[in-house]
Amino acid sequence: MEKRAIMLLIILMAVGWAAAPCLAQEKMHVVDNAIFPDTRCSPALFDHDGHNEKAGIDDCGVCHHVYQNGRKSEVETSEDSACVECHALKAGADNPIGLRRAFHLRCIGCHQIGEVGPLMCAECHPRASLH
Ligand code: HEC
Ligand code: HEC
Ligand code: HEC
Ligand code: HEC
Repeated sequence: MEKRAIMLLIILMAVGWAAAPCLAQEKMHVVDNAIFPDTRCSPALFDHDGHNEKAGIDDCGVCHHVYQNGRKSEVETSEDSACVECHALKAGADNPIGLRRAFHLRCIGCHQIGEVGPLMCAECHPRASLH
């Protein structure tokens, strides 16, 4: 009896642990901008799961990519890493694409190609501060 209870607890803990990242993105409605110093805009609207469902994007690697020998991997993905872990704030010799540009290229780039999804600043950043 006691053994079964302990097993159940272990299983519940394992399930809860595995599900944690999914819960996090389900609840994600904006892209956190806390990493940017002196933010000029409100956080970009992005209902993570709802957006990707509506847009019909099944492949996590479309946004959470991994590069190998200069080419995007067809199989590896990086949803366990924030973009900033590879795209530091400031662009430079060993960081060709700074963080803000990485976001804008990815988000606006696809909206432009597909001719669907917002392109105007205020459609993603409803508020801008004036400085
Ligand atoms: C398709 C959505 C989208 C559009 C359109 C867009 N942005 Fe962004 N922008 C983002 C995302 C995503 C980030 C990074 C995360 C965040 O700021 O919430 C970002 C970050 C920024 C940042 C750095 C963070 C800050 O607040 O200082 C600035 C500045 C910015 N955008 C300005 C603009 C301006 C100006 C325009 C219009 C020319 C624009 N953006 C259009 C999605 C968008
Ligand atoms: C259209 C782009 C896009 C797609 C497709 C996408 N994501 Fe994300 N995801 C993001 C962005 C942007 C962030 C925030 C990254 C950052 O802050 O650096 C994020 C964050 C996450 C996080 C971290 C959540 C948190 O709250 O910290 C997880 C986990 C995640 N995504 C999983 C996935 C999985 C799994 C898939 C595929 C089923 C997926 N994503 C597809 C754009 C995307
Ligand atoms: C594991 C490291 C890694 C992570 C995490 C990562 N990238 Fe990248 N990304 C790269 C590398 C490497 C390149 C190639 C150019 C370079 O060296 O910066 C690249 C290129 C890009 C490009 C230009 C080429 C293209 O695919 O259009 C964009 C845009 C981009 N990343 C956006 C993002 C965004 C947005 C995120 C977070 C959702 C992200 N990246 C997460 C490593 C990463
Ligand atoms: C691979 C293509 C693709 C990428 C990458 C992409 N989007 Fe979109 N986005 C779409 C499409 C398609 C729609 C229209 C969906 C619909 O309403 O049918 C859309 C719609 C939106 C909308 C309108 C509201 C909504 O949720 O439908 C917002 C806001 C948005 N995108 C923000 C972003 C942000 C922020 C990013 C980057 C983190 C991003 N998108 C990356 C394809 C993309």
